[in-house]
Amino acid sequence: MLAIRCIRIAGVYLLIGMAMGIVMGATENFALRPVHAHLNLLGWVGLALAACVFRLWPEVADSRLARAFFWGYNLTLPVLLVALGLFLYGHVGILPVLAVAEFGVFGSVCLFVASLFRCSRVPLDQRVGQVGVALSRAAS
Ligand code: HEM
Repeated sequence: MLAIRCIRIAGVYLLIGMAMGIVMGATENFALRPVHAHLNLLGWVGLALAACVFRLWPEVADSRLARAFFWGYNLTLPVLLVALGLFLYGHVGILPVLAVAEFGVFGSVCLFVASLFRCSRVPLDQRVGQVGVALSRAAS
């Protein structure tokens, strides 16, 4: 299921992002600060929010647009982060790779947004209510 895959990958990004923050602080080397920020925000926050959307609107998660987003985003985001890190360390030759990865991530997010417009017809308050009912049933 797309939601669970997204939240698991998001969790891995969170662990890597936090570990990176600790290392940056301990070594007082903040050169990779933008990588840390993008890893946490695009990796953890972005994917965790996508997981919530896919959980609230299963019909969005079932769409081809959402699957295309999932693969596009998860294949290009790691490339973007590594290329950004290399660029920050002075490897300017990596710039074309960085640019392609940026457009890959952006294009994937365009697919995600398109999936929201095409598939999410059930109102949010109704969905939240359904998730609440499911949770209370699971708890009892
Ligand atoms: C164990 C957890 C974390 C540690 C130890 C940590 C550590 C750091 C450090 C040392 C910096 C650089 C501060 C400076 O240059 O003065 C930083 C910047 C930043 N962190 Fe974290 N961080 C953690 C988690 C997170 C998380 C979870 C997020 C986002 C969801 C986040 C987002 C950012 C952002 C946006 C910046 C600013 C980047 C910039 O100014 O270029 N961090 N963090």
